[in-house]
Amino acid sequence: MIGKRMQDAMNEQIKHELESAYLYLSMVAYLNAEGLDGMAAWMTVQTQEEIAHAMRFFSHINERSGRVELLPLAQPKKEWASPLEAFKAAYAHEQFISGTIDDLVKVAEEENDNPAKIMLQWFVSEQVEEEDSTRKVVELLERIGDSGHGLVMVDRELGARPAAAPSSEGEAA
Ligand code: FEO
Repeated sequence: MIGKRMQDAMNEQIKHELESAYLYLSMVAYLNAEGLDGMAAWMTVQTQEEIAHAMRFFSHINERSGRVELLPLAQPKKEWASPLEAFKAAYAHEQFISGTIDDLVKVAEEENDNPAKIMLQWFVSEQVEEEDSTRKVVELLERIGDSGHGLVMVDRELGARPAAAPSSEGEAA
């Protein structure tokens, strides 16, 4: 059975992951409105990944006879000055989420919660990937600067991102 402190911390993390999905979905709407459908498709995959992340915590709490509690979500930002600014915000957000995962690892260690420690290792690795993938897009957009042609090329490239894997435990999401 999961302890109360770990359960509360994971319920908080479900909120963080769903707020990530909400933020990225807002970016999808912004990118669609800008006519950048490839970037919007990339961010749609990112949104799906965040929902899969939330579901990992949801399943973990349930499997250990805990109780999931869904907390209120903050309204995400709606507009960005440019696609570069949106992706910079996504990168900063991933860094914030990495910090929340580190905090969870700390709680798991303090509570001597081995199942949580093992489950969280997946997230530690995943956050390395999450930061890397958003940072790479930021660097790509910084490199093309104000080039309209470059933006079209990047939009096409990002549109080729494969769909997110199903949200089951043990599968890459
Ligand atoms: Fe769930 Fe993008 O971190």
